[in-house]
Amino acid sequence: MTPADFGAGATGSRDDPHAQARAARELPPLLHSMSAFRELFAAIFECREIRTVVEVGVESGQVSSLYADLGATAVHCVEPAPGEELRAVLGGDPRLNLVEGLSPAVLGDLPVADMYVLDGDHNYAVVRAELAWIMEHAPDAVVVMNDVLWPCGRRDFYYQPSPLAPEDVHPATADGPTVWHDVVTPAGFVGDGAFTVAAHAGGERNGVLTAVEDALGDAVGWRFAIVPAVFGFGVLMRAEAPAAAEVFEALRPYTSSELLAAMENNRIALYTRILQLQYEATARADDANRLAETVTAQQRELAELRSELNRSRSENAARRQELQALRAESAGSQAPPGPDQELGVAVSRLGRALSARIRRTPGAPR
Ligand SMILES: C[S@@+](CC[C@H](N)C(=O)[O-])C[C@H]1O[C@@H](n2cnc3c(N)ncnc32)[C@H](O)[C@@H]1O
Repeated sequence: MTPADFGAGATGSRDDPHAQARAARELPPLLHSMSAFRELFAAIFECREIRTVVEVGVESGQVSSLYADLGATAVHCVEPAPGEELRAVLGGDPRLNLVEGLSPAVLGDLPVADMYVLDGDHNYAVVRAELAWIMEHAPDAVVVMNDVLWPCGRRDFYYQPSPLAPEDVHPATADGPTVWHDVVTPAGFVGDGAFTVAAHAGGERNGVLTAVEDALGDAVGWRFAIVPAVFGFGVLMRAEAPAAAEVFEALRPYTSSELLAAMENNRIALYTRILQLQYEATARADDANRLAETVTAQQRELAELRSELNRSRSENAARRQELQALRAESAGSQAPPGPDQELGVAVSRLGRALSARIRRTPGAPR
């Protein structure tokens, strides 16, 4: 590959030095799917004929067609609870066959495959059982696995709800691991309801790589190699299987690369830092939302208090007017008598004077 082959998107060019930054903005920020390993799959398909593939753990189905594009004529895509979107993706391609079920239980229902891509439930019990089935029934297959390094290498992940027997599940948590520590934290690599993780890393029967090591310990003549990139790409084959030597040789530049291993370590350190920053940003956004809700509620309360105050003010003004009217009325009742009252007073005085006169008049009846 020449520098020009990397393209302006990867390096920028003399004519367009900003292409790299633009491409970085346009690309999805993190690529964690099996599609990151396209060139490794291409190398394997070049070494030997692969007609039938069993893909365990399909998720969005974004990788399934890759195996068919590289030459497989049938890809059996195992996913326990496919959504409508996945059904549509797989349904639109006759080379892809959706298998609704759990691995390893469904493996025996499918044709023996030339390649098994294991990227389903990432825990010791499931991976160990998948490998046991493949080693017994498909000894010539190429087995490709994701997540054989951190964080799943030495720690079980359990997709939810887990169908595993309680004795196959370590004490688990919804928190997630963070870089190079055994402790788990809500700011770590969390499943957000999709999976839980073993609370502790390491020890017996814990993690994908531990499952591979134990499977190799029980079998004779199998080889395993890891490409130390994007959580670890593992390749497992019987040494005597067709083109096994060629496959491992084709992958050797990747499997032996200290540069890749160092870059993966750096990537994980940065990636977990991003997870932590995302967690903190979400927590701050939640705080800001809570604060905004409090401010809105207080503003509403303030507006209600204001309108209550205005109501009280107008009631006050009305009462003041009433009071003034009452005062005016009571002041009015102490005022000089009006003509009617004067007439009454005069009449009664007249009455009294008349009575006195009558009393003084001799012979008047008493
Ligand atoms: C990491 S994702 C797969 C990603 C996919 N291979 C890709 O590269 O885009 C894991 C998937 O495995 C599925 N899964 C979990 N347990 C499984 C099991 N026992 N058998 C098959 N699939 C399983 C989950 O539902 C999830 O969609």
